[in-house]
Amino acid sequence: MNADANLNLDALNKQALKNAMGCFATGVTVVTTNVDGQDFGMTCNSFNTVSLDPAMVLWSIRRASTNFDIYTRAKGYTVNILAASQQEDAMRFAKGTQEERFDGVDLRRLQSGRLNLVGATAWFDCEMHNVVEAGDHDILIGRVLSFASNGAAPLGYLNGKFVDLA
Ligand SMILES: Cc1cc2nc3c(=O)[nH]c(=O)nc-3n(C[C@H](O)[C@H](O)[C@H](O)COP(=O)(O)O)c2cc1C
Repeated sequence: MNADANLNLDALNKQALKNAMGCFATGVTVVTTNVDGQDFGMTCNSFNTVSLDPAMVLWSIRRASTNFDIYTRAKGYTVNILAASQQEDAMRFAKGTQEERFDGVDLRRLQSGRLNLVGATAWFDCEMHNVVEAGDHDILIGRVLSFASNGAAPLGYLNGKFVDLA
């Protein structure tokens, strides 16, 4: 097998792994934080719940993300679980400058100073508990300070596409 064939095989394996991981249906969140008075937000589907008592959650951030240092060093973060009606926000918070992401979005500032996307089906405002290095991502474990939910149908993500979970 020559070097090129090896490269192609690696690429195929990576795609196969992505495809297999994509079989796990998730919700879609926008995770916000505020550092030195500046707001940050990014779309994330690696969110999961961890513990009920104490209430804890997690998500993971790609090491290559522009705002990796911001999120991993922040005092906390807010996870906004998007409603089915917020697919546009899911795309908006996955690219562009931070100003462009928040521009025109209906927002509410929480007591922590972080932003809640109005209309999210649920949100969890968290203080940072622990950051765990894991391959090309870091896992950010948070302790829930406050939360709410409103029963709106959630936005889903499966096989690389937004789906209706309702
Ligand atoms: C549906 C969806 C889910 C995503 N989930 C994650 C995630 O869990 N972790 C992550 O680091 N990036 C995730 N991303 C990508 C980030 O949103 C994107 O890379 C980031 O906002 C790009 O800006 P940055 O490189 O300036 O951080 C996701 C994107 C989409 C569309």
